Formats: sequence, C-alpha cells, structure tokens
Amino acid sequence: MTVLEGTAAIITGAANGIGKGIARALANEGVALALCDIDPSVNELATELEAVGVAVTASEADVSNADEIKRFVDGAINRFERIHTMVSNAGTWRSTYPLDPWEKAIDDFDAVIATNLKGVFLSGRAIAPHMAQMGGGHIVNIATDHICPPPGYSTGGGTNMDIYDASKWGINGFTQAWARVLASDGIRVNALCMDATDSKMIRTALGRTPPPELLEAWMRPEQIAALLIDLLKEGDDGRTGENIGIWLDHEIALPPKAEPLPSRFQ
Ligand SMILES: NC(=O)c1ccc[n+]([C@@H]2O[C@H](COP(=O)([O-])OP(=O)(O)OC[C@H]3O[C@@H](n4cnc5c(N)ncnc54)[C@H](O)[C@@H]3O)[C@@H](O)[C@H]2O)c1
Repeated sequence: MTVLEGTAAIITGAANGIGKGIARALANEGVALALCDIDPSVNELATELEAVGVAVTASEADVSNADEIKRFVDGAINRFERIHTMVSNAGTWRSTYPLDPWEKAIDDFDAVIATNLKGVFLSGRAIAPHMAQMGGGHIVNIATDHICPPPGYSTGGGTNMDIYDASKWGINGFTQAWARVLASDGIRVNALCMDATDSKMIRTALGRTPPPELLEAWMRPEQIAALLIDLLKEGDDGRTGENIGIWLDHEIALPPKAEPLPSRFQ
C-alpha cells in the first residue's frame, strides 16, 4: 500500500504522451482516476487501467469548453466523493511567428490560449471549491521549461512558439496566485516545467521522424510521472507555488523546497 492509495485524481489530456504516462503511474499507486481528453482513445486507456484494479472514469471533454469541463469535474466528484489531485495537463502546440499572416495569427492565438490557458483556468476553478470544502488538495499545472529553464539559460522556447510560450507564462500567473490564496484552504498548487519529452506534441513540433540521438536525449513520460508522484507524496506539508524544472542532462528529482519569499501585498 502506498500513501497515495485510496486517493483520487483528475488528469486532463490523458489520452496521450505525458498525461497517459501520469495516468498509468498513478493507477499503479492505487489512485482512482477521472480522465478527460478530446481524443476518444481516452476510453481505451480507462479500460486498460481498470485492469490494474483501480476505479477509472473517462470523458471526451474539451478543457476549453466551460460546460464540458464543469460537467466532467462534477461527475468525477460525484463518482469518487473526494478528489485529492488535479493534473491540468491538456495542451496543444502550433508553429507561430510574429510575422505570420493576420488571420493565421488570430486563429492560432484563440486555439492555443483556449486549451493551454483557459483550460487550466477552467479546471482549477471547477475543482478548487471542492478541494477547499474537503479541507485540501493538490493542483499540478503542466507548464514548460521555457518559463523555467536550466540554470544559465534564458527563458523562452524556440523561434516559432510565441503564443505557446505566452500561454505557459499565463499558467504561471494562476500557479502563483492560487498557491498563495488557497494555502489557507490546505490546497497546494505547483507546476511541472519539463524539457523535451517524447510525445505526439514534440514529434509534431519536430515535423519529422526523430533520429535515434534525439529519442535517446528526450525524457520519457514515465520519468515525468515518477517526479509527479514524489511531489504528491510530500503530502499536506509539501511545497506550494513552485515551478519545478525538469531538464535534459540533469538529475530528474525534486529540488530542495524553496523558502517562500514575503509578498508586498498582504
Ligand atoms: N512533450 C514535451 O516536450 C513537453 C514539454 C513541456 C511541456 N509539455 C506540456 O505537457 C503537456 C502534455 O503534452 P504532451 O507532450 O504529452 O503532448 P500530447 O500531444 O502527446 O498530449 C496532449 C494531450 O492533450 C489532449 N488535448 C489537446 N487539446 C485538448 C483539449 N482542448 N481538451 C482536452 N484534451 C486536449 C490531446 O488530445 C493529447 O491527448 C502539455 O501541456 C504540453 O504543453 C510538453
């Protein structure tokens, strides 16, 4: 029995990549799961994980749609009575550039911000009142190393991802604000800021079959999931308000807990 056994978690964007890796790892810890994705294969994942012996519910919900995400989260609460963890993982990436044609720019902005930023906003808003009522919980937002690079590197991603990066900086606003104001409700809020990790998204962004040396270098979803589990196992006294960098060529481990800085605003 692990300390997470008997808890329940919501994972958005669970059908592929990092979300799928997290779902599999949490199932192995005995965590009941509510999974959503716009990809219907989330239902097959639910069947796979039920075979592990945990309760799983799956929903084809779009995190950018307020009605769908509220219905999904409320359904998960009804099914499991208490949700301990929300992993806001669903994300999308488009190649964007400041000199793009106007129509493309507007379409890209709406699509990327809707999933990456509004999705995290809606997921957090849907679950926070429940967690507060239950005396606590843990929200983990999935950001990127572009906002939290390895020591010695500047922030920012590649040359063709300004909207993606802006969406992830926006997530940081929620992570920081929620961590501070929800601490008194026992709710921890952190973000995982990972470097290149093998997934559908990064393969799409690369635009070609990754050569063996890249596949070798990239992290794997299971490694991100293992770090997330360590973060959850910190329990009620664990860190909050941290952007946790997970970088290539660095040890994949939780850094020492940061000392909270005083705020100018009380
Ligand atoms: N792979 C990387 O290198 C990397 C690095 C840093 C951050 N991230 C972040 O990790 C998260 C997971 O990405 P991934 O790399 O596993 O990519 P992925 O494409 O394999 O998985 C993303 C999942 O989100 C789902 N999704 C997309 N839009 C959705 C929506 N509106 N509603 C519900 N589900 C939706 C997709 O169907 C997919 O299953 C994303 O937030 C991404 O920005 C990835």
